[in-house]
Amino acid sequence: MKQIEQNQKLGEIVAMLPKASEIFKNVQIDFCCGGHRTLEEAILEKGLNAEVLVKQLNEAYQIFIERAEGNIPSAATDVELIDFYIMPHHVFTKQILPEISELAGTILRVHGANHRELFTIHKLVRNLEADLEQHLIKEETILFPAIKEYASNPSEKTLKQVKEQIAETEDEHDTAGAILKELRAITDEYSVPEDGCETYDLTFELIQRLESDLFEHIHLENNILFKRFETAVV
Ligand SMILES: [Fe+2]
Ligand SMILES: [Fe+2]
Repeated sequence: MKQIEQNQKLGEIVAMLPKASEIFKNVQIDFCCGGHRTLEEAILEKGLNAEVLVKQLNEAYQIFIERAEGNIPSAATDVELIDFYIMPHHVFTKQILPEISELAGTILRVHGANHRELFTIHKLVRNLEADLEQHLIKEETILFPAIKEYASNPSEKTLKQVKEQIAETEDEHDTAGAILKELRAITDEYSVPEDGCETYDLTFELIQRLESDLFEHIHLENNILFKRFETAVV
């Protein structure tokens, strides 16, 4: 099981564990502008207890992984992983994204003049929506059918297709993760300004829900399903 280590960059840790941003915030570690620093550097700079902080991060990581895996039986086949564990995340993403996108437009119209960062937030949300819409379609119409084809009729040709498609899919996961990181930084950890309304609140709340679901979703794909193909041979 992968662990969080002190020599990792702060940004890298937040990408592994979204909750790390909350933990860092509590001990005043700035991971947004200072995300390129290592955890060790940040600990030294703030004079923190390394052992306590690393333990706290790893405990949270453990819970995150267990929740993401949702007690997946190790005997679950690739097809079962896709149909029963990954597809519910696709359904959720398709449902919440248009809602967030519309809300981002609404708060931009109402509050954009006073909060110029909403222009960037709106654009980031729309980019995320377009990217993820295509990403899900690609998985559902190209990658997953190829994995299912390989499961019922393994051949070198299909395995090659699966592996190539996995590499492309993982790159797209990184792109989505980068947009979410940017959103987290520009919203100052989703802090709603004092003059923000309920819609503002709801927009930030839904983006955070999408973020946490997407991290679980990507974990299931990258670290569980795709890992199985790293060593696969026909
Ligand atoms: Fe997916
Ligand atoms: Fe994906």
